[in-house]
Amino acid sequence: MDKIINLVEQEIAAAFDKAGYDRALAKVTLSNRPDLCEYQCNGAMAGAKKYKKAPFMIAEDVLANLTDKTYIGEIEVVKPGFINIKLNEDAVAAYLNDMKKDENLGLEQAKEPKTIVIDYGGPNVAKPLHVGHLRSAVIGESVKRIARKAGHKVLGDIHLGDWGYQMGLIITELRKRQPDLPYFDDAFKGEYPEEAPFTIGELEEIYPTASGKAKEDDAYREEALHATYLLQNGHRGYTAIWNHIMHISVADLKKNYANLNVEFDLWKGESDAQAYIPDMIERLKKEGYAHIDDGALVIDVQEESDTKEIPPCMIQKSDGASLYGTTDLATLVQRTQDYHPDQVVYVVDKRQELHFVQVFRAAKKTGIVPEETKLSFLGFGTMNGKDGKPFKTREGGVMRLENLIAEIDEEMYKKITDNRTVSEEEAKETAKIVGLSAIKYGDLSNQAAKDYVFDVDRFTSFEGNTGPYILYTIVRIKSILNKYKEQGGNVEDITLLPATSDSEKALMLEVAKYNEVLENAFEELAPHKICAYIYDLSNAFNRFYHGTKILAEEDAKKKESYIALLILTKEVLEACIDVLGFEAPERM
Ligand code: ARG
Repeated sequence: MDKIINLVEQEIAAAFDKAGYDRALAKVTLSNRPDLCEYQCNGAMAGAKKYKKAPFMIAEDVLANLTDKTYIGEIEVVKPGFINIKLNEDAVAAYLNDMKKDENLGLEQAKEPKTIVIDYGGPNVAKPLHVGHLRSAVIGESVKRIARKAGHKVLGDIHLGDWGYQMGLIITELRKRQPDLPYFDDAFKGEYPEEAPFTIGELEEIYPTASGKAKEDDAYREEALHATYLLQNGHRGYTAIWNHIMHISVADLKKNYANLNVEFDLWKGESDAQAYIPDMIERLKKEGYAHIDDGALVIDVQEESDTKEIPPCMIQKSDGASLYGTTDLATLVQRTQDYHPDQVVYVVDKRQELHFVQVFRAAKKTGIVPEETKLSFLGFGTMNGKDGKPFKTREGGVMRLENLIAEIDEEMYKKITDNRTVSEEEAKETAKIVGLSAIKYGDLSNQAAKDYVFDVDRFTSFEGNTGPYILYTIVRIKSILNKYKEQGGNVEDITLLPATSDSEKALMLEVAKYNEVLENAFEELAPHKICAYIYDLSNAFNRFYHGTKILAEEDAKKKESYIALLILTKEVLEACIDVLGFEAPERM
């Protein structure tokens, strides 16, 4: 469906045209005086110079030539030449009825769906997930769902950090602890026991231990580097260990991401890119894109218009080892070959921005991705504690993701059981659902690039701009609808009538903005716009609810119209929280 603001604009544009003015002037925006009108057009002001006429006169001309007033209701010119527009209530009701009939609630599906790869999550295998990984998962999942809702073909790729030094560290430590394992026997042929020589718990302890030792002990570090080298060159025993690490870690990651309602289509990683590196480097050298600088192989990415220095993208160290940038370029080789994406979006900590500037430029310059492929960096800020410093445990350590989730769930559980009597089982279940909304909404309601403060008390509150408040609103609607049905109310083929109160009208207008908000959130990769919208929508609903006797309404048609509005409001809210990556319980 067309966006309602565009429908209004088309009518105004036709009037500009008819009155002899450029229709491009007829830009309609949301009113900055919502107490007076819903939309405004300042085109007459903009046209004054061009037509050497007082804006007021231009605006009057436009009004005199406004013949199609389907969406426009009351309209007036105010000095010095603003056009204030109110919507036609009948048309709004008709628009909402059309939305209700449409399975996409009026959201236009992409006519030429794009293939979009979203690179998000990015956990490092064998290291526990910590809160730093939370943002990438939460934002990336939402962007994926938004793009999908708009009708695009989206592939979410976790891009595991599963190659490199951390693996060498684990192998080295394991070798010290269990030197008799068959993997360390030079004669190892590759038949290895199914059972891994460690559990996920041990793995999570082995890595930091090894990492700590390597920092203090040069010989240990050398050993780990050598083990990394051997692994990367196909050492059979080490490859077997690597497979064990992968199996165990991936199973654990899947469990953790499932708890976050985050789902990847592709479980590829840095290791999958390695096979593409030799040919890529060969070509880049042959075609003169890469040259040796200080012993290392680099690609220059500085551009003339740069105001600061952008260092070259390094793709091979003097010892032949590849780097983070090499892996990201090779991954683009693979993605281009296998999926031909129109766009690749990277949801990564904004401190990695320079790395991506280098990789994007190098990929474009060397033809690794075609010129028309859009490469987008969606960098996010840091999640801080109340002290304004990166979020830590009370003891000052790195907060594990599962502990953070447990803390939120516990807080939610307390609030739910304080509120009403409910079985422990149901309260636990509800706490999980609502807790997830607290975490995700708390994150997504901020513009991604900004740092934000993770505030457990605020995020879990049922009031204010929070996930639980949105869910509370949905649950409230569900409960009214349930009562209505219990009383034998009809929900088949009911239609919305034009609004009869200000709060009803305000709610209807908010509901009608759904397609506009989603389109915009997709174009700007900005889930926070959806949060802002559902907060306004929830407020509009609650004001309507407090000012209206819905179930006690005596006029049957009017009552059905209220119910139709409630159903549509609920559907819009549910569609929005679905793209944000959480859902509502039945009760709370
Ligand atoms: N594993 C990386 C990290 O923890 C993030 C990966 C981001 N994605 C990418 N294609 N580089 O920093």
